[in-house]
Amino acid sequence: MSAAQGRTGRVGVGVIGAGVISNEYLKNLTAFPDLDVRFVADIDLARAQAQAEKFGVADSGTVEQLLADDAIEIVVNLTIPKVHVAVALDVLAAGKNVWSEKPFALDRASGQQLLQAAHAQGLRVATAPDTFLGSGIQSARRLIEHGDIGAPLTALTLMQSPGPESWHPNPDFLFQEGAGPLFDIGPYYLTALVQLFGPVARVSASASRARETRVIGSGPRAGEEFAVTVPTHVSALYEFESGQTAQSVFSFDSKLKRTQFEVAGLEATVVVPDPNTFEGELEVHDAEGIHSVPSTGTTDTRGIGVVELARAIRAGVPERASGEQAYHVLDIMVSTIEAGETRRPVEIESTVQVTPALAEDWDPLAATLV
Ligand SMILES: NC(=O)c1ccc[n+]([C@@H]2O[C@H](COP(=O)([O-])OP(=O)(O)OC[C@H]3O[C@@H](n4cnc5c(N)ncnc54)[C@H](O)[C@@H]3O)[C@@H](O)[C@H]2O)c1
Repeated sequence: MSAAQGRTGRVGVGVIGAGVISNEYLKNLTAFPDLDVRFVADIDLARAQAQAEKFGVADSGTVEQLLADDAIEIVVNLTIPKVHVAVALDVLAAGKNVWSEKPFALDRASGQQLLQAAHAQGLRVATAPDTFLGSGIQSARRLIEHGDIGAPLTALTLMQSPGPESWHPNPDFLFQEGAGPLFDIGPYYLTALVQLFGPVARVSASASRARETRVIGSGPRAGEEFAVTVPTHVSALYEFESGQTAQSVFSFDSKLKRTQFEVAGLEATVVVPDPNTFEGELEVHDAEGIHSVPSTGTTDTRGIGVVELARAIRAGVPERASGEQAYHVLDIMVSTIEAGETRRPVEIESTVQVTPALAEDWDPLAATLV
């Protein structure tokens, strides 16, 4: 029996992975009235206990203890990318729904395995990013769907930085399989592009790596050298099923830090807020000049997708940050690397039905399930 059947009221949540990003998640999840955060688990038990105490969560301990709590219906998986799928499969086997941090999986086969396991159990595997549910991208979607830039034609997206090894205390995983700029930051940009233009049909790309090793810049391991095993500069040309196109750069090889996300339409170009954030103004360039357009919608941050998932479970409707969307984004990323390696365009086999935009007054802080 699926975890949702017959249940009402707030949705019980457990968190696995008490590292850097658990701070933002636990702060937010414990503030959403529709969620009941009950347990924090980690292989580092002291870390799990410290995070539970810091955020007023009643229990902490091992993953097995968390999975034994019947009142937990959604498990938020904040582990490192290479164990995302294994942890998620254990969660599904325990009869619980999964919210996973990105990337959804590292390869197509394990992504498919996850979707099939969830389907077979009548459970859900929803995933980050949920930034696209924030006011920035939702307002961009509403503006474009309202026809304010005319027919949307092309997008340009840039994400350039020197890389996260200067500030993250354990940055090795960010330069290994499942990360690098494409897998680590790409999901924010590609999910936003899919939300605005629909599914991607084809990709051409180039991919390169500036250095074989990098050095940790902060924390107890500062000065330690680690291997870089994935491309650190990727540039791609995406063709969408709709006929629209996007050019994207994902780079950890640039001393210049820059993010840009713009959509050119027949009548105007809109500059969209950084899709790795939840809010920000839109800037519309048209024949009359440049206008700022405030974004509207929720300004809450990481974890709003968990609330949306909880409400979708109770309502029996599809969640917006779905596993199907995440699988399509994974397929795009894997295909981008393949296109870079083979220097040939790659056809994207998966597709996705884009879910409707959120209502402007959608509020994760409202108590709708109590
Ligand atoms: N750090 C950020 O700014 C950030 C932002 C957005 C998303 N993310 C994503 O969040 C995830 C976690 O990132 P982080 O920066 O918090 O990493 P982190 O290394 O700080 O934390 C990961 C935690 O998971 C635990 N863990 C690893 N394997 C486990 C297992 N099998 N069972 C239980 N616990 C396990 C580790 O002990 C650690 O405490 C990654 O997927 C990352 O892409 C991170």
